[in-house]
Amino acid sequence: MSTLKVHDKEFIPYITSQQIEEQVTRVAAEINKDYEGKRPLFIAILNGAFIFAADLFKKINVEAEICFIKLASYKGVKSTGKVITAIGLDAELYNRDVIIVEDIVDTGKTLSQFLPQLEHHHPASLKVASLLHKPAATVHSIKIDYLGFTIPDKFVLGYGLDYDGLGRNLKEIYQLI
Ligand code: IMP
Repeated sequence: MSTLKVHDKEFIPYITSQQIEEQVTRVAAEINKDYEGKRPLFIAILNGAFIFAADLFKKINVEAEICFIKLASYKGVKSTGKVITAIGLDAELYNRDVIIVEDIVDTGKTLSQFLPQLEHHHPASLKVASLLHKPAATVHSIKIDYLGFTIPDKFVLGYGLDYDGLGRNLKEIYQLI
């Protein structure tokens, strides 16, 4: 098994691109079924969710819209805990069926701060789709309605997720050794 060095850290292959594709397909099928006859608005959280959001959105076959927002800064292998106000949220959320698209729910801090902000706009419904979830890292419990993978509390990168800016372009997900 080939390891990968990014900055000062070593990573091993963890989730293959085929496994990712399978789970993205499954999640999309669940959303297509639940939103039949509706027109959901996907809100993808940059930067980490951009690849998951694109692959997921391509598999959505109900009428749907997507917008991208920027929220939090995350540096290094532990959350800074700082949440920046949403940038680029120009869509009207009132009475819309909103689906937040995240790369990973780690401590849950980001979404625990952001979801209540969205509730103020009175969407018709508000759901969360996340590619990854680390339940063992939970500080703020978040209901994830559509989930790709449950993973242990180890740092991962690839498929949109970075380590200090690098690794987002990897097709597979790697895990810190
Ligand atoms: P939370 O607020 O602790 O749930 O963290 C959310 C954000 O932290 C995610 O959207 C990611 O950008 C980042 N993050 C958390 N865990 C990892 C990881 O293992 N690798 C890369 N980024 C991570």
